[in-house]
Amino acid sequence: MADLSVEITGIRFKNPIFVASGTFGYGLELKDSIPVDKIGAIVTKGLTINPKIGNPPPRLVETPCGLINSIGLENIGIREFVEKKLPDLKKLGVRIVANISGDSEWDYFEAVEIADDADGIDAIELNVSCPNVEKGGMEFGRNVKMLEELVSGVRRRTGKPLWVKITPNFVDIVDEARAAVNGGADAISAINTLLGMHVDVQKKSFTIKRKFGGLSGPAIRPIALYVVWKLVNSIDVPVIGIGGIDSLDAALQFFMVGARAVQIGTANFVDPLTSIKIVSELNDYLDKNGYGSIQNIVGILH
Ligand SMILES: Cc1cc2nc3c(=O)[nH]c(=O)nc-3n(C[C@H](O)[C@H](O)[C@H](O)COP(=O)(O)O)c2cc1C
Repeated sequence: MADLSVEITGIRFKNPIFVASGTFGYGLELKDSIPVDKIGAIVTKGLTINPKIGNPPPRLVETPCGLINSIGLENIGIREFVEKKLPDLKKLGVRIVANISGDSEWDYFEAVEIADDADGIDAIELNVSCPNVEKGGMEFGRNVKMLEELVSGVRRRTGKPLWVKITPNFVDIVDEARAAVNGGADAISAINTLLGMHVDVQKKSFTIKRKFGGLSGPAIRPIALYVVWKLVNSIDVPVIGIGGIDSLDAALQFFMVGARAVQIGTANFVDPLTSIKIVSELNDYLDKNGYGSIQNIVGILH
């Protein structure tokens, strides 16, 4: 057995294969059908201070090698999450990362204070990169001044590991990541979805009600890989790779350029066992190649 465990931002994870926000529900939905304790960490659906119903449908469309979504952060609100979901989640034996969004700075602050108090939330992932909301979301990620202010305000409110999930949409990703790190981020998660659109030619209308959404899946993998490589070479905090990872080969690409962990997103909709299969294949790969530990492969192309 190879050593798959990784330490990121002061927490030890049993393996570096996590599931990405918004693609694995609150973490409980699949607990009776798949062994979720084999996953390195579950990043929750995006949580906000108040419950959100999200955007009107249609809000999903498949594209070549990808998916466009415009869910708009539908969720039950962080208070209800902590009261009703977290107690059961804690029993699953898997690390929990709370993904937090807000319309305004104060929304983020209030939600982070609740996450900070909640026993069972191991780390906070601040989503400053959602393309599917009118207020907040990506606007923070795209404005380095606002971002640094937001992250430093959040930093003052939590001692928990703080990851910031950034957007590659129309920004200099290095400036954006540096602003997050200057504000006090302990790690960067990259990337969130890329803006995209689809037209229903027969109906002569936009397929998605809100016209555009966020593109995810294998279509964005090469972009995500470039972003991760660029960040690993530019900043001093761990980078967590996300974007179109659906196989061992895809995960290894991210590890080789220096990602300290990866998150599986859209692939969960194709097969919710993807992350667990990758964990087992990663173990076999490391064993077969005599690596012994995941540490021996991370950043070999750095
Ligand atoms: C349906 C759907 C919902 C998502 N919801 C969130 C969310 O609430 N918060 C967040 O930070 N990212 C969210 N994402 C983005 C994913 O976590 C991930 O960053 C992105 O999809 C790229 O990874 P992938 O190509 O493996 O899906 C969502 C993605 C999808 C497809």
